[in-house]
Amino acid sequence: MRIAIIGGHGKTGQAVSAGLAERGAPSTSLGRADWPHLVTALQDCTVAYLIAPNLHPDEPAYVRAALDAFREAGVGRVVYHSVASPYAPDMPHHLGKAVGEDLVRRSGLRWTILQPGAYLQNLDLSRPVRVPYRVDRRFGFLDLVDLGRAAATVLVEPGHAGATYELATRQASVADLAAEAGVTAERVPDGGTMDGLDDRERTWLSAMFAYYDRYGLLVGLRPLRSLLADPPPAP
Ligand SMILES: NC(=O)c1ccc[n+]([C@@H]2O[C@H](COP(=O)([O-])OP(=O)(O)OC[C@H]3O[C@@H](n4cnc5c(N)ncnc54)[C@H](OP(=O)(O)O)[C@@H]3O)[C@@H](O)[C@H]2O)c1
Repeated sequence: MRIAIIGGHGKTGQAVSAGLAERGAPSTSLGRADWPHLVTALQDCTVAYLIAPNLHPDEPAYVRAALDAFREAGVGRVVYHSVASPYAPDMPHHLGKAVGEDLVRRSGLRWTILQPGAYLQNLDLSRPVRVPYRVDRRFGFLDLVDLGRAAATVLVEPGHAGATYELATRQASVADLAAEAGVTAERVPDGGTMDGLDDRERTWLSAMFAYYDRYGLLVGLRPLRSLLADPPPAP
């Protein structure tokens, strides 16, 4: 079994590749330069882990093109890296993943969908934490190491076709995490976090921060624990 990780050169793809390596399962990470010849690059792959680049302007088109290439190359199975709560119309990039999930489910391929919460590693807890949303809102945070291990489980083990798993390592607020790390946490305006982004990316990120500010983004813990074969959390 050869496993391809599409969009595999970022932190997500590296975590998946490391999770597979831990289990002795080699993988091939493909990036932007591979797209013009994706079908050729996928030869001999039986499974693909599909990651869209962060804030892609048209994730459904990206997913559709990848699925076409999988079918043409004879890749029989896809694991799609979605997001927790994809159907959240206030967040355009989440909605793009909701449409992506629908395309994957109707692809004719065997599929599994992972819905990760915000990565714990997004926060630098070695210094005061400044985020553009209320620090007491609660999230399901996902450790990238756990993501890699859960992804490896569904890629390597049988029995995950047709499954959709939300993934979080723990539920907490940013204030909780900061207090544990012994640093302060503060809500700031979102402008400072958006250097180098274009207008569309700023608008989409602002929409996400506004959603976080109002609701946080809670994610259940049990699917991940089950995939990692840990006992369920205490009530
Ligand atoms: N951050 C979080 O907390 C979080 C939580 C849940 C879900 N997610 C999702 O995780 C996904 C991946 O995030 P990431 O930060 O690891 O990835 P990333 O660094 O944004 O992108 C990774 C890959 O995408 C490729 N890429 C970039 N632009 C492309 C294009 N126009 N066409 C084709 N490929 C392109 C890159 O190619 P090169 O190798 O050539 O650079 C790289 O291999 C996103 O969809 C995000 O929504 C993130």
